Amino acid sequence: MPETIIPANGHFINKGEILLEVKNLKKYYPIEKGFMHKKIGEVKAVDDVSIYINRNETLGLVGESGCGKTTLGRCIMRAIEATSGEVLFHMDEEKPPVDILKLDKNELLEIRRNMAIIFQNPYSSLDPRMTVLDIVSEPLRLNGYPRDRLVDKVKELVDMVGLESKFLNRYPHAFSGGQRQRIGIARSLALEPRFIVADEAVSALDVSIQAQILNLLQDLKETMKPTFLFIAHDLSVIEHVSDRVGVMYVGRLVELAPTEEIYLKPRHPYTEALLSAIPRPEPGAKNNRILLPGEVANAADLPSGCCFHPRCRYCQDQCKEDTPLWQEISFGHYVSCHRAKELELQGVMEA
Ligand SMILES: Nc1ncnc2c1ncn2[C@@H]1O[C@H](COP(=O)(O)OP(=O)(O)O)[C@@H](O)[C@H]1O
Ligand code: SF4
Ligand SMILES: [Mg+2]
Repeated sequence: MPETIIPANGHFINKGEILLEVKNLKKYYPIEKGFMHKKIGEVKAVDDVSIYINRNETLGLVGESGCGKTTLGRCIMRAIEATSGEVLFHMDEEKPPVDILKLDKNELLEIRRNMAIIFQNPYSSLDPRMTVLDIVSEPLRLNGYPRDRLVDKVKELVDMVGLESKFLNRYPHAFSGGQRQRIGIARSLALEPRFIVADEAVSALDVSIQAQILNLLQDLKETMKPTFLFIAHDLSVIEHVSDRVGVMYVGRLVELAPTEEIYLKPRHPYTEALLSAIPRPEPGAKNNRILLPGEVANAADLPSGCCFHPRCRYCQDQCKEDTPLWQEISFGHYVSCHRAKELELQGVMEA
């Protein structure tokens, strides 16, 4: 019988199911002044985030621009160094996890073979001087893939992402945005990673192309069974691909639940407001958009108590003073709001 553990933020779960556990992750950027770089404050880009991602799961991460999604994804991959916390990678179900944040350079290179990032901008993320063959084969070459099998492997990869292999010797400028993103995805998949961070992977694309790339990612999920952290500011994109969704507001997770539950029955006022802004195409749909007053809170000077309180229409006195706890309100549904149990918030799938 698999051992059971309690993740930092959750209910009992079989240890074998978890691929990645993030515990109390913080990334603070110092704000410095003057010639002597005197530290006068800090930007709390990611502030005490705990989260787990199961094997073959897609965890969607959503929130307005600047709320710390990219920073969280990059800290997990150790593309940037976190200030503190743990990122436990359960590579092998039988062995203890490794803390990615504590690995030395060589250990990190080894573990990175199992991880990949799909970037937002297919125009800037591909080197214009490299051919498709060079771009897609690079991770394979760097990891000692046999040279005589390289071209066949690249053909297989570009075929998998829906491109024709006759284009292998062309340069990125010859392709459209959607095709370039397919090239980037082929490259990300080259080493058959177990864990993929897709950071705004479709945000720069036209809506029709977005749908094609999202379908491609869904197909890859069936065939290659990677685990995704899927970052986007667009809730309709997140809904299509995610098994569970985490909502961030100025560096903190404010809600986390299975996708259907988040969309049907949000428990945090910020999630409710984000959902209300999703355009509804059906005729006669009511526009119930909740306009949030003021600006997103400043991560260098957070409001007291609940950091969403200056914008929250349900704010009470307690919200201004006490920071709400991160609590499991129903099985697998986490929220940090003093009033989560009493508020009846509006979702988007109801008639
Ligand atoms: N290198 C940096 N130095 C200082 N602040 C940064 C740096 N990178 C990001 N930030 C700040 O961290 C916060 C989170 O940024 P980011 O993770 O890019 O958000 P998102 O991806 O959700 O748009 C923002 O306030 C941003 O200004
Ligand atoms: S704790 Fe209060 S201010 Fe914060 S989201 Fe809940 S009701 Fe709004
Ligand atoms: Mg970002």
